[in-house]
Amino acid sequence: MQSRLPIAVLVSGSGSNLQAILDASAEPGYSADVCVVISDRSEIWALERAAAAGVPVEVVDWSDYGNRAAFTAAVCDVADRYGASALVLAGFLRILGDSAMRRFPDRILNIHPSLLPAFPGTIHAVQEALDHGAKVTGVTVHFVTADVDAGPIIAQEAVVVMPGDDAASLHARVQEVEHRLYPAVVDALGRRALVVEGRWVTWKEKS
Ligand code: GRF
Repeated sequence: MQSRLPIAVLVSGSGSNLQAILDASAEPGYSADVCVVISDRSEIWALERAAAAGVPVEVVDWSDYGNRAAFTAAVCDVADRYGASALVLAGFLRILGDSAMRRFPDRILNIHPSLLPAFPGTIHAVQEALDHGAKVTGVTVHFVTADVDAGPIIAQEAVVVMPGDDAASLHARVQEVEHRLYPAVVDALGRRALVVEGRWVTWKEKS
């Protein structure tokens, strides 16, 4: 059996996706281990979750760096210091610069609460789906590239918009999907089962 893939999970908020990955990694057959949780801010619930799981936490404060290149280098240096082989963005609200993609090629994941390429952007995707009158939205997990929310898509799952939904009720159903889909994709990455050819990502069968 291959050794578990050490991952750094990057967070900025409540960390429910982090929790889903931590819970999955507590299972014996899982293929990834969270070696560090990196945040761009302190005093967020995600850091409590990491501490409760006994995972080290590092805060890389944007204001200590002030530009994307230096901030990105600092985040990657922390990940390297903990031996991470991949970066898993889970509600991380900063955009990483190109050097992160060079240091972790095809090893940076992001989760987005819409069916990309619909409703890209960091924070309003669920509200934008409602405002647009979309009947279906969903979840996308993709590789991170220099273009925001435009990297090769690994997995998507639809969520039906119900009459009377508001952003909170719709986001709650989106998150139910996220908490199942993201740990599954991280497991596939850990099994080295994701093959990227141009924009297309193939999942190899579980061996
Ligand atoms: C998720 O909805 C994710 O799709 C988006 O940010 C949210 C993070 O939620 N990128 P949480 O912090 O994991 O609860």
